[in-house]
Amino acid sequence: MSQLPILSVRDALEQKLRQNKITILIGETGSGKSTQVPQIIQALNPKHERIAVTQPRRVAAINLAKRVADETKTKLGELVGYTVRFQNMSNAHTRIKFLTDGMLLRELMLRPNLGQYTTVILDEAHERTVVTDLLMGFLNDIVQKRDGLRIVVMSATLDAEKFTHFFKGAQVLYVQGRRFPVERHYLPTPVEDLVDATVRTAIQINIGEPTGDILAFLSGQEDIDKATDLLNSVSSAMPKGVPEIVPLPLYAALPPQQQQNVFDKVGPNKRKVVLATNIAETSLTIPGVRYVIDGGTHKVKVWRHDLGLDSLLTTPISKSNAAQRLGRAGREAPGKCYRLYTEHDYHTLRPQGEPEIERCDVSFPILTLKSAGVDDIIGWNWLERPKKGAIMTALTQLYLLKALDNEGKITHLGKKMAILPLPPHLSSVLLHAIDSGITQPVLDIVSCLSIENLIMNPHPDKREEVNDKRLPFVQASGNMGDLIVLRNYVLHYQSLKSNDDKREWCKELCINARAMANVEDIRKQLERYLKSNKDNIDNGKQFAPSDLFDEIVKCFLKGFVGNTALSMPDRTFRTISSGQTINIHPSSCVFGKKVEAIMYTEYIFTTKAYARMVSPIQLEWLQAIAPHYLSRRSAGDE
Ligand code: CDP
Ligand code: MG
Repeated sequence: MSQLPILSVRDALEQKLRQNKITILIGETGSGKSTQVPQIIQALNPKHERIAVTQPRRVAAINLAKRVADETKTKLGELVGYTVRFQNMSNAHTRIKFLTDGMLLRELMLRPNLGQYTTVILDEAHERTVVTDLLMGFLNDIVQKRDGLRIVVMSATLDAEKFTHFFKGAQVLYVQGRRFPVERHYLPTPVEDLVDATVRTAIQINIGEPTGDILAFLSGQEDIDKATDLLNSVSSAMPKGVPEIVPLPLYAALPPQQQQNVFDKVGPNKRKVVLATNIAETSLTIPGVRYVIDGGTHKVKVWRHDLGLDSLLTTPISKSNAAQRLGRAGREAPGKCYRLYTEHDYHTLRPQGEPEIERCDVSFPILTLKSAGVDDIIGWNWLERPKKGAIMTALTQLYLLKALDNEGKITHLGKKMAILPLPPHLSSVLLHAIDSGITQPVLDIVSCLSIENLIMNPHPDKREEVNDKRLPFVQASGNMGDLIVLRNYVLHYQSLKSNDDKREWCKELCINARAMANVEDIRKQLERYLKSNKDNIDNGKQFAPSDLFDEIVKCFLKGFVGNTALSMPDRTFRTISSGQTINIHPSSCVFGKKVEAIMYTEYIFTTKAYARMVSPIQLEWLQAIAPHYLSRRSAGDE
């Protein structure tokens, strides 16, 4: 540990921390920022300091807390802890708390001066997530007003100018990272199949190159799972004398224990191949990596104005991402980086990615600001202000959700929505469910929607078999769509007694068993949030099943009024908000059914625009729930 680069600037850092309220620390990934800086600050005044360290990702928050607890030889959850959505591992004595940026924002809503902390460290500021951006705005203000608050902004990229301009009087400190030369290789011609190219490259490295682990970047879970399977199938068939390949996936939706595996050493004559999303780009450092394979793409959240939802799109990375990826190979010794694109294509990449606030739905940030009492949204102290059009859309959405009133002031409902750890659509659904006396079934469904990749795509060979197994649950939904089917899955899962039965059943239906187990956890947490809000959630009403299904769908419609579409003669649908063409995804139980209108809670774009998680709706419902919306839209449509 003694040779971590951060320790060579310890004195200078301590001096800056003592003398300034705001310090900006720039240092390459792996220099020891996240693990050491909290401990250095804690040591300045052990009895006094209470430190919050934010991370854009849950995995990083959990992993760092574990690491720092180890380093301080304390039990996790005591001196060092973490808080992430739906999980709290800290207590009243915790001095160094790692949390996701979202959780700190929530704490800030409840306690606007953050009096519970003496220091707030905003880590991974270069990632420029919407929430980190918001926190910077709030903290810049709080730090002027409150004595005894110190802010540290940490970033892995050199462009500190934006931050120094923003935080007046901030001091900047640079840490020189350890860096060994990394040889770069490009492809002579572009490849079609990145999974295949990744697997081939990993095998070539394994056969031709001396010891050192491999880190491969792919865009998402699906590709990572495919590559892991492929590598597993060849790992034992390596020529004699060649190390055995141990493929290890790493993405956010993976259960924590499996994520942990990538940090463990593998035995002799074995070589780790970590297949990761951009999670491994800066926020996690995996020891032992000498070879990097860079697929050149990642998934980013993009707001589709025409469809009314954020969606994840696979897009080319920026040069800055490519540099970070390459850097991962040269941390401990000289390394090699294999870019699975041509040198020409590299030069066409944009220098930096666009900050999230410029491309995502901003209704959540705006609700947060309103809840914090900020009325002038446009004039607020933004690190980067969203486009005016995006702000207007968000205000309209929040008004439709009844979070804001006619004058743009936050409503009682809006205040409650702002503290729930859910996107505004889902918060609104849940709060309406309480009024309708259907909290329990809606909680089941909202919990499912809060988890990615719960219902998986069956392998094409298995599709028919899986669909047969799913059929009874679809039939029991009374043709009321995918949300009701989800609930039927949850009910059946809960009725199974043993864990083996649960696992077996999930496998048969191609449901992610780990994720399903999480649903229960999330449900409990949400219930706790509602209770702490003093909401009366136990006033369950009795309905006949088909009435209950109607009530549930109507309740979701209140949150997803903007995500509705009308049937066209050619079997496609046109969104009510913008008249955009949208298709029902074949995985939906509404696919191929004749319905006059639909509501969808998910949207994906592959070869065309698809609605997923679809429920048929009646136009009368829409009329009753949002008369202004419908008349305004259809008038404009003619
Ligand atoms: O934040 P930054 O990227 O500057 O570095 P860090 O996360 O503090 O990591 C410092 C060093 O600790 C790295 O070289 C990692 O290899 C090591 N580390 C580790 O081995 N296991 C962890 N769970 C976290 C860090
Ligand atoms: Mg870090």
